[in-house]
Amino acid sequence: MPSLKIVPQYVFFVLATLILIVMACASRQMVQIQQMETDIIPKPMVMTTDPGSVHLTDSFSILCDTDDKELEGLSSTLYDWCKKFLDLELHLKSTKQASESKQAIRLTLQKMDPVLGKEGYQLDVTDNGVTLQANTGAGLFYGLQTLIQLFPATQTENGIQYEAVLPFVHITDKPRFSWRGMHLDVCRHFFPVSFIKRYIDLLAMHKMNTFHWHLTEDQGWRIEIKQYPRLTEIGAWRVDREHQNWSERTPPEPGEQATYGGFYTQDDIREVIKYARKRYITVVPEIEMPGHAVAALAAYPELSCTGGPFYVMPGGYWPITNIYCAGKDTVFKFLENVLEEVAALFPGEYIHIGGDEAFKDNWEKCSDCQARIKANGLKDEHELQSYFIKRIEEFLISKNKKLIGWDEILEGGLAPEATVMSWRGMDGGIIASKAGHDVVMSPTTHCYLDYYQSEDQEAEPVAIGGYLPLDSVYAFDPMPPELEPSRQHHILGAQCNVWTEYMPNGNHVEYMALPRLCALSEVVWSPREQRHYEDFLRRLSVHYKRLDALDVNYRNHETGKAAKPTPKTYYSE
Ligand code: ACM
Ligand code: ZN
Repeated sequence: MPSLKIVPQYVFFVLATLILIVMACASRQMVQIQQMETDIIPKPMVMTTDPGSVHLTDSFSILCDTDDKELEGLSSTLYDWCKKFLDLELHLKSTKQASESKQAIRLTLQKMDPVLGKEGYQLDVTDNGVTLQANTGAGLFYGLQTLIQLFPATQTENGIQYEAVLPFVHITDKPRFSWRGMHLDVCRHFFPVSFIKRYIDLLAMHKMNTFHWHLTEDQGWRIEIKQYPRLTEIGAWRVDREHQNWSERTPPEPGEQATYGGFYTQDDIREVIKYARKRYITVVPEIEMPGHAVAALAAYPELSCTGGPFYVMPGGYWPITNIYCAGKDTVFKFLENVLEEVAALFPGEYIHIGGDEAFKDNWEKCSDCQARIKANGLKDEHELQSYFIKRIEEFLISKNKKLIGWDEILEGGLAPEATVMSWRGMDGGIIASKAGHDVVMSPTTHCYLDYYQSEDQEAEPVAIGGYLPLDSVYAFDPMPPELEPSRQHHILGAQCNVWTEYMPNGNHVEYMALPRLCALSEVVWSPREQRHYEDFLRRLSVHYKRLDALDVNYRNHETGKAAKPTPKTYYSE
């Protein structure tokens, strides 16, 4: 009976095929889990995985101590994300009501784990549900950013879709540095509050904690100061030269109206600070002095050495020699009044006073400046700048604020408690930290996001110059190898700077900032030994889907193309 022989062979064949299919599915799931577990940016400090996953449904709850307002706020952050991206309405419940449920994401503040410190978290996804613990709200917030990145994102016909599934993982994570900063120049071009909030969202998603808001410049004063209304009536507006290259912009014609610009009211600023605080981001305002002050001098020319008149510059003509006079006491009174309002608005401990690129030609010729040098026994104009900054520092300390400035504040002697932001290389930061000062590293070699992203400049939108590819940002180590261990705690961290001469709108800022911001986030968050560029690039390709879900205009490092079309030049040639 031949059929009897065939049947067992047939059954064997079918069974073997089924087993292979099941194994293939299982291994695909494993691969997926494998990918999910390692695709987080910035890379966590320690992460282990177990086979298996949790599927979230709408019977899941977010559990926390709802009497704690901060925890309630964090729960609603997670609730909102799940509603928007998973289409799931989770239940917000108090731990007192439902402590035993397995179908839960538990958020707990423990306030005592020495490993996690001020910003770390512990995240566990197991058969028993999801547990997120930290000592602080900030730690929980960063844990939530990781949790969100564990949901797999896929490209579909309808755009990016997140799946409501989490791999079993155990993550213990905390940042390497306490200053994880991004700067934005809102003076060379003005950006509305809506974009500032979007920028803050991008920082938060990458666990950055400092937004350095560059608010005053030669080309625009962008913060309302109640005692000096002309700063924004005059200083916030310039003639429109948007059709000309930045470096060739022509001065105003006689009688021409100043129509390009804008500023933030104090209510706008409070709104931004509140928005940032909810995302555990400190906003550091920068009020430039003694240079980069032409917009202020256009409004109040009596604060200069020469008396003016001045106009708000539509572009850059170097060197820009008009700066605040260091010889007139009225200048210090003005700056103190401005800083008093700024200090009252911004709750963070730092105020950035600029200090860079102050051309001192006017000081050499000014009788008031020369009289100040003589009266105080100063050697030269560098020491006059040092006098200027020290006097401002004394005032800030009296307002319970700390002064931070660009590394030129070292010249002529550093103010006693100043923090240095080292941009002309690392040397300024090394000198300052050896002298016992705190430092933020932001050298042009690794941190200037206004530089080109490709050597092929023709293929890129016009930028200021330079070349800073993604791998150079990734290779950055803010800790100088020669710094002795006893001084290393002075290196607070690092930040990237976004100067916007050649970035006329938010779309363009996103193109220049991402994915270099992703690389920076790993530089300042992840342990040095966890960083591997090839591994980062692999995770970055997955991360792009998260950016796509937010409609971000990043530059794809694989294709060299913008996620959204970016004009090659924004001005017509
Ligand atoms: C700077 O880039 N001038 C600080
Ligand atoms: Zn002067």
